[in-house]
Amino acid sequence: MSATTPKGLTRLAFGGDYNPEQWPESVWQEDVRLMREAGVTMVSVGIFSWALLEPEPGRYDFGWLDRVLDLLHANGIRADLGTPTVAPPAWFYRAHPEALPVTPDGVRLAYGSRGAICHSSPAYREAAARITTELARRYAGHPALALWHVHNEYGVPVSACYCDGCAAHFRRWLDGAYGSVEAVNEAWGTAFWGQRYGTYEEILPPRTTPTVGNPAQQLDYRRFADATIRENFRAERDILHELSPGIPVTTNFMTALSQCDSIDYWAWGREVDLVTNDHYLITDGRRTHVNLAMAADLTRSVAGGAPWLLLEHSTSGVNWQPRNPAKRAGEMARNSLAHVARGSEGAMFFQWRQSRRGAEKFHSAMVPHGGTDTRIWREVVELGAGLGALEEIRGSRTVPDVAMLWDWQSWWAQKLEWRPNEAHDARERADGFYETLYDRHLTVDFAHPEADLSAYPLVVVPALYLMTEAAGQNLREYVENGGTLVVSYFSGIVDEHDAVHPGAYPGALRDVLGLTVEEWSPLLDDQRVGLAGPGGAALTGDVWTEFVRPRGAETVWTYADGPAAGGPAVTRHRLGRGTAWYVSTRLDAASLDAIVAAAAEDAGIPSRPSLPRDVEVVRRAGAHGHYVFVLNHTDAEAKVPLDGPGTELLADGEVTGSLTVPAGGVRVVRLDG
Ligand code: GLA
Ligand code: ZN
Repeated sequence: MSATTPKGLTRLAFGGDYNPEQWPESVWQEDVRLMREAGVTMVSVGIFSWALLEPEPGRYDFGWLDRVLDLLHANGIRADLGTPTVAPPAWFYRAHPEALPVTPDGVRLAYGSRGAICHSSPAYREAAARITTELARRYAGHPALALWHVHNEYGVPVSACYCDGCAAHFRRWLDGAYGSVEAVNEAWGTAFWGQRYGTYEEILPPRTTPTVGNPAQQLDYRRFADATIRENFRAERDILHELSPGIPVTTNFMTALSQCDSIDYWAWGREVDLVTNDHYLITDGRRTHVNLAMAADLTRSVAGGAPWLLLEHSTSGVNWQPRNPAKRAGEMARNSLAHVARGSEGAMFFQWRQSRRGAEKFHSAMVPHGGTDTRIWREVVELGAGLGALEEIRGSRTVPDVAMLWDWQSWWAQKLEWRPNEAHDARERADGFYETLYDRHLTVDFAHPEADLSAYPLVVVPALYLMTEAAGQNLREYVENGGTLVVSYFSGIVDEHDAVHPGAYPGALRDVLGLTVEEWSPLLDDQRVGLAGPGGAALTGDVWTEFVRPRGAETVWTYADGPAAGGPAVTRHRLGRGTAWYVSTRLDAASLDAIVAAAAEDAGIPSRPSLPRDVEVVRRAGAHGHYVFVLNHTDAEAKVPLDGPGTELLADGEVTGSLTVPAGGVRVVRLDG
């Protein structure tokens, strides 16, 4: 089953996690009154309610949830109903301490928080199936039910368990994947350091070892853990499909690497009926709206370009970072509408009413501790009205300009120990390339390395260390058929088992790039290199340099100094009807922009509009029209040229050739014709 919208939701989704069990029932009436005032259309309920719904094994208390759902329905609010399987009750752990997860160094984690789960545990699986079945039976026909929300954020806070039960499960998984212990030995290269295994029973999870463990084993354990968690999602989903037909099933992803890096969302995107995502701004000194755009683009890509839904973000500060700044006036709406521009069918929050007790009492909410006479509440009400005015965009699709290759499995492999330079960070390079494209006002689709790329004039490959031979072949065909490719250093080095591709580097990409890399020469922390190029121009790199030997490629930029002085630094290979660029050092932002500009020209992409880089322009197109979203992240008014006249949906009014967007504001225009 596949649905792009929760059942019965006729407007964009607006609301949040609603935890009425934390409040006396007298507060519930005020909750729904305020929800109506703000234009809330859907809330998420029951996500952590297992201990209340099943207070003793097999004894259920659904009365309070009945009343909550009835109340929501009476007020025209749809329900995204959680299965509470991320928070098993204490009685469950007392009976099954073996279901608590174990860390790589053998510590069994305790209950009393959330997410303490060994996903291999038969007792957990059975208990989760039971509560899911009871919920599905009781609520399948409830008129408020719009969406099933399985579990919560699979993959965090525990991404893998290393207990004996998981060891046994891992051995079965290996047998399924390889068929024999001999094949495992071969794939893992256990001849090295005498790690050879005689039987499956000898194989352990990659627990803490004296020094570096086997990298292929660690990579397979990541795959195993992801597949095991996915088995549990599927089990719940299948129960819901069977007992509650017609209601789409989701689980909330966290596609941003900084928020969850242990889940292969390419695989998960195929399992859910509707892709949903949670996103929080990370305060790390970078431009948070760029990081947000990247996460939203990645989520849309995981959904195959179809509309998706932002299930959680925050009205203001969170409480789990070392420093938790409040959002500035207007920032919450800009964040929300940026997700919508990039494909979300609404904007939901954690959470509706700020808690008085518990671990998240200092996390912002839609109804803050200070109540309704607050800036947050006023902005919530305003956002609700704004989303109400955008109803017609439902079902339209974001229009991409270019693609970036992305693969969680490569990320897992890349993060393993003992690499040429610890300062090389795949995420940093992906962020760097994304930022360059963002600043050029290009909308980015993410693509799996083996996906069909023919729709994109330009494809960038920031740091894809692990690449299969098939992926290399895919890129070669893409370029031969007229595509333009930009590849950054340390890509295409190993295969799916973390084994170096045979022959010279970069094994998977030699042909398409028309070069080999004889050796890399990483730089020390304070070292920089200069690059000399066309017309005496200069670029700057750090972290990494290489000894590149062109074999068909032309040298466009040369190392002016550093270990590879005089050698090629940036090359360009014409192959078939296309072009492949290679960048062998970590370029700073301005330098990278120069290379991307040259490649964009090869790709025939029109040069960038003369807009400030922090004025974001994104398009959605659908049956009802073509929409332009303009988000002004600057402190100055912006004038943005439009392709024609249209109607402004948020501020109401006709616009002609150009649109004025106030400082910090957002405008959405439906173009005429
Ligand atoms: C996650 C969880 C929520 C809440 C928020 C806080 O996204 O799903 O339950 O903890 O983080 O930011
Ligand atoms: Zn386990």
